[in-house]
Amino acid sequence: MLTRNALLLPLLQFVATVLAWDTFVVPHTPDADDTPGLLSLVTSHPANATILFSKGTTYNAWSAIKFPVLNNVEIRIEGNLTYPNDIATIQAIVGASGFPGSWFTFSGGNNVTLRGSTDPKWGWVDGHGQQWWDANQQVNRPHGWAFSKINNGVIRDMKLWKPIAWNFATSGAVNVHAFDNLILASSDTNVMLLSLLPTVANKLYTVFPFQHVGYSYLSAPTLNLHSDGFSAGGTNLVFENNYIVNGDDCLTVGNGARNITWRNSYCEGGHGLSIGSLGKGGSVADVQNVHIENTVMKDSLYGARFKSWTGGNGLARNITWKNIAFDNVMFPIYVTQNYWDQGIGPKPNTTTTNNTHIQDFTFVNFAGTIRDTGFVEGSCVSDPCWYAVPNATGREVVILDLYPGTASNILAKDIFAVTETGRPVAAMCNSTTVTNDVGFKCWNGAFIRTKAGL
Ligand SMILES: *[C@@H]1O[C@H](CO)[C@@H](O)[C@H](O)[C@H]1NC(C)=O
Ligand SMILES: *[C@@H]1O[C@H](CO)[C@@H](O)[C@H](O)[C@H]1NC(C)=O
Ligand SMILES: *[C@@H]1O[C@H](CO)[C@@H](O)[C@H](O)[C@H]1NC(C)=O
Ligand SMILES: *[C@@H]1O[C@H](CO)[C@@H](O)[C@H](O)[C@H]1NC(C)=O
Ligand SMILES: *[C@@H]1O[C@H](CO)[C@@H](O)[C@H](O)[C@H]1NC(C)=O
Ligand SMILES: *[C@@H]1O[C@H](CO)[C@@H](O)[C@H](O)[C@H]1NC(C)=O
Ligand SMILES: *[C@@H]1O[C@H](CO)[C@@H](O)[C@H](O)[C@H]1NC(C)=O
Ligand SMILES: *[C@@H]1O[C@H](CO)[C@@H](O)[C@H](O)[C@H]1NC(C)=O
Ligand SMILES: *[C@@H]1O[C@H](CO)[C@@H](O)[C@H](O)[C@H]1NC(C)=O
Repeated sequence: MLTRNALLLPLLQFVATVLAWDTFVVPHTPDADDTPGLLSLVTSHPANATILFSKGTTYNAWSAIKFPVLNNVEIRIEGNLTYPNDIATIQAIVGASGFPGSWFTFSGGNNVTLRGSTDPKWGWVDGHGQQWWDANQQVNRPHGWAFSKINNGVIRDMKLWKPIAWNFATSGAVNVHAFDNLILASSDTNVMLLSLLPTVANKLYTVFPFQHVGYSYLSAPTLNLHSDGFSAGGTNLVFENNYIVNGDDCLTVGNGARNITWRNSYCEGGHGLSIGSLGKGGSVADVQNVHIENTVMKDSLYGARFKSWTGGNGLARNITWKNIAFDNVMFPIYVTQNYWDQGIGPKPNTTTTNNTHIQDFTFVNFAGTIRDTGFVEGSCVSDPCWYAVPNATGREVVILDLYPGTASNILAKDIFAVTETGRPVAAMCNSTTVTNDVGFKCWNGAFIRTKAGL
């Protein structure tokens, strides 16, 4: 009897759990906003439920939504979702006082899954971003998905088509697994601020004295700025098998992040696998234990990147970038503790002795090509360009722009690069700012591996 009860009880509990789980289909009305129906559905079923956007339907996500706290809920997107196909409508919503911060904002909860579809024809969230990029419209752009304060969450199989700007953010989340997601923020057209382009290009040529030959204005991408892929805030987060084509950071790890893993992914067109920016406006940063590996960086401004602002504070430690293949990347490895957006004015003559300290940064096994052929990236709309590096040659595989006495144990090992023009690969590093062997000769000159870098 005892044995039978011991078997029966868990079985009954299991059946009860299964029975308690329901699926609710989001209602759809043609030519009307489906968000109010979605909100009332999820408000009445914030636990033990699947909220389903069904295949075969294109839902109108015409207003921003803030979900209630959810427990054991799966939001499953098998139909298509469309943002308003009109810039002014979105701007009015984003600019209104009640805007929750993102177009889809989660408020926390436990065991929450955001799941798309593996059907290539369905499960797309269409942001109609092209018109925003073509108009260089940056006022009141919406963030996409704020997966905030979720404990034990999953983001999988999501497919974003031409999202306007920032995509997934996990601030305050704990134990999140984000995998098999697709973000396609690539632009069909090649617009730049044409009036600015000649100045910008000339300035770049001054900074990076490459030949004008072969350069084409049409090769400049469009302004799909700030279409960051994943903004990792929180603890114990794993991102893998994600595919991102965008115009800003592929991954950006923010202040407070701990235990972040990113692997087996593809990033194209953006600004790199980034930590920061940290320490803006003198703030105190805290980032620890970040492991990034097995990622392809294609046509990107940066590969691996760290930036903390001039005058900041705090610590970033134990960060590894490993097995990074880069193709046509301008700055494969770039670390600055002296970040300043040159687009907003000259660097301040700071007298502060504070800055964000960095410790135990490892770059290991990088291979690929450096874009040293006169690239003007779409985000370069100021003069000097925000990413211009004084005295750089454009052939640097690694730039360490460090603050004296505040960077320790930085190592670049097994770094293999060629430039697209075939000219020698260079490095930028100031030996008064480092104490250990960083893996290459620390100077502004040819890239020469040292003992620690072999
Ligand atoms: C959800 O299901 C669990 C059992 O799996 C149960 O304990 C809990 O009360 C349910 N919550 C609601 C709101 O129904
Ligand atoms: C968590 O949610 C998933 C569906 O997303 C469900 O299958 C599972 O039973 C939930 N876990 C618990 C402990 O309720
Ligand atoms: C769903 O949306 C995507 C992206 O806009 C589109 O390519 C696809 O054709 C849509 N699916 C259907 C069945 O309309
Ligand atoms: C980070 O991971 C380490 C090692 O797995 C673990 O000991 C630590 O508790 C984690 N930190 C947090 C804040 O969860
Ligand atoms: C460094 O981070 C890794 C995860 O990326 C973790 O496994 C390891 O325990 C951390 N080491 C220290 C000394 O914190
Ligand atoms: C910084 O100091 C230099 C030299 O004194 C001066 O030319 C420059 O204008 C100063 N920059 C700012 C932003 O104050
Ligand atoms: C440096 O940081 C410390 C600790 O956060 C703070 O008390 C101090 O005011 C900072 N100094 C400057 C010059 O910013
Ligand atoms: C650039 O190089 C020149 C000549 O070596 C030097 O005087 C100047 O200080 C350098 N500028 C920076 C910002 O390192
Ligand atoms: C190297 O750094 C020191 C300390 O910040 C600075 O004084 C020096 O000008 C730097 N050298 C170069 C070549 O930038």
